[in-house]
Amino acid sequence: MNNQTILDILTQTSEYVSGQALAGTLGVSRQAVWKGIRALREQGYAIESVPNRGYRLRMMPDCLNAAAVRSFLAAAVIGCELEVLESVGSTNDYLKALAAKGAKSGAVVAAREQVSGKGRLGRTWQSKKDENIAFSVLLRPHIAPTEVACVTPLTGLAVCKALRAFTGLDCQIKWPNDVIAGRKKLCGILTEMSAEFDAVEYIIIGIGINVNQTDFPTEIAEKATSLLLETGTRFDKNKLLACILQQMEEEFLRNNLELTPQALGEYTSLCATVGREVGFSRGGKPCTGTAEGVAPTGALLVRLPDGAVAAVSSGEVTAQGIY
Ligand code: BTN
Repeated sequence: MNNQTILDILTQTSEYVSGQALAGTLGVSRQAVWKGIRALREQGYAIESVPNRGYRLRMMPDCLNAAAVRSFLAAAVIGCELEVLESVGSTNDYLKALAAKGAKSGAVVAAREQVSGKGRLGRTWQSKKDENIAFSVLLRPHIAPTEVACVTPLTGLAVCKALRAFTGLDCQIKWPNDVIAGRKKLCGILTEMSAEFDAVEYIIIGIGINVNQTDFPTEIAEKATSLLLETGTRFDKNKLLACILQQMEEEFLRNNLELTPQALGEYTSLCATVGREVGFSRGGKPCTGTAEGVAPTGALLVRLPDGAVAAVSSGEVTAQGIY
């Protein structure tokens, strides 16, 4: 039995559930149930216990907590080492330091607050205390640096699928790996790597998800949103993080870190950029065209006004009607 099973039963009802009923359903002793309840309380779950009535879940912890994430996690590799920090500059930088000390492939660092979070293209990423999820995953794959370009869209696909399944929201991907709801950004991904000329030493995938934030700074207010704003629901961040880590593991294993035909098919059908007019820069020159698809390398295929197809593999791409 893991504590998740107790939690699953308690979250399904607002009534008390007796220790005997829990023990019977789970096929364990009442003492094992009591130990599970105690562990859940240590993780921040407020569980009432009333003699002759049983247990009732009154409140879930509203902050990230390593024990809670672990209790929901069934992935074998991603999250094999997992730390939740109260506050950090950037989880990517923190995990980089752990990687240099030999942290295992699959190690995860999440933070309740990030004070100098990094975004793509030298931007910053803000994540207020206990409002959002900011985390990084370390991978040590046996691939060439040129193959890393596939890992980011694959991660975008995993996060998008996890968010759709967990929240019911019809979210999509904006190439290369933002997850959006409607025309606004819910999640950003920053992948960094340490590599020799022909071999990757490690990759760090940093993911920021706007969960309960309702106020955004004016400069991003027009293009940022959160799960709370989109659904009106406050989601359990620990469960959500476990669900995303699990989906990342499934996607990485199933596709061997490549954009396989299956992954590419799923990515393309969830990619809101495909089919739109896009703007990008090529050799310092602004260009426009129609995004027609995504190549197995992860590059966006854009039909230019002269009929030629450009493969855009990096930089900023604006998509008409989104941002
Ligand atoms: C972007 O869209 O610009 C990428 C944002 C990536 C933010 C995440 S939050 C966790 C990790 N740590 C960082 O410093 N950045 C990434």
